[in-house]
Amino acid sequence: MTNPSKTQRTILITGASGGIGEALAHEFAKGGAHLVLAARSLPKLQALARTLEQQHGIQATAIQADLEAADGAQRLFDAVEAQGITVTGLVNNAGYGLFGEFTDSALAPELAMMQLNMTSLVALTKLFMPDLRQNRGQLLNVASSAAFQPGPYMAIYYATKAFVLSFTEAIAEELGSEVRVMALCPGPTASGFQDKAAMHDSALVKGKRLPTAQEVAASAYRALHGGQRVHIPGAMNWLMAQSVRFTPRRMVTWLVAQMSKPVGA
Ligand SMILES: NC(=O)c1ccc[n+]([C@@H]2O[C@H](COP(=O)([O-])OP(=O)(O)OC[C@H]3O[C@@H](n4cnc5c(N)ncnc54)[C@H](OP(=O)(O)O)[C@@H]3O)[C@@H](O)[C@H]2O)c1
Repeated sequence: MTNPSKTQRTILITGASGGIGEALAHEFAKGGAHLVLAARSLPKLQALARTLEQQHGIQATAIQADLEAADGAQRLFDAVEAQGITVTGLVNNAGYGLFGEFTDSALAPELAMMQLNMTSLVALTKLFMPDLRQNRGQLLNVASSAAFQPGPYMAIYYATKAFVLSFTEAIAEELGSEVRVMALCPGPTASGFQDKAAMHDSALVKGKRLPTAQEVAASAYRALHGGQRVHIPGAMNWLMAQSVRFTPRRMVTWLVAQMSKPVGA
């Protein structure tokens, strides 16, 4: 095993073109890590890479990747390998939600979201695991406070995040101290997420002051390096995640429906 303190860290961040992923890129760059930035919007990634290189004297590589495609994870892995880059940390951040009643929504976008939020996340974790283990590296999977209970009006999204949380905690236990593993479970956060999910009318976000992606990323970075396994930024989000454990599931699900449904519905 290599001594991590003597190894230059290189962190691959998916979904780095905006929101929490971009903010995490700033945090890791500030900490002196080299970066590989992946998402679909290549010009945004390239601009971010240049900024981070200039600000922090690190190397940042932008790679275009569509992780909704069935072979998206493999193609990203191959592109990283082709550039001769060894990844010592993986941040599986790319993801989105879809808002609406299950009976009214279209299947194809939901299957694409499941591919991105779950299947590609697992595939990337599998593909990069030898590098992470070899370098006593880091794995940060972005789940959500949605992971702790069912989510009427975003039923599939909540289920994908429950999957991410369960998967991440399980492999953290298997890996022990070999790889530092953390599931990040943010509550609603101001980012491109609300536009993509078309959820501006949801009571979850309408008229609320949401934490910024920068606040969430800074908190996540501290927690990862402090050895947390599951990190829920924000005292209220933490409290809610705990309280559902002592409340009947049917009541929890009803409450989430009241908190999530379109305002006025
Ligand atoms: N914001 C919230 O309220 C909130 C709360 C809890 C958890 N989260 C989670 O936090 C993570 C980041 O979301 P965010 O809030 O930062 O949202 P965001 O601002 O919309 O950012 C999403 C990122 O994912 C990338 N992405 C989307 N589709 C992709 C695809 N097919 N292939 C590759 N990359 C793709 C986007 O880049 P391109 O469009 O350029 O591909 C973008 O960089 C997600 O996993 C989300 O579920 C968010």
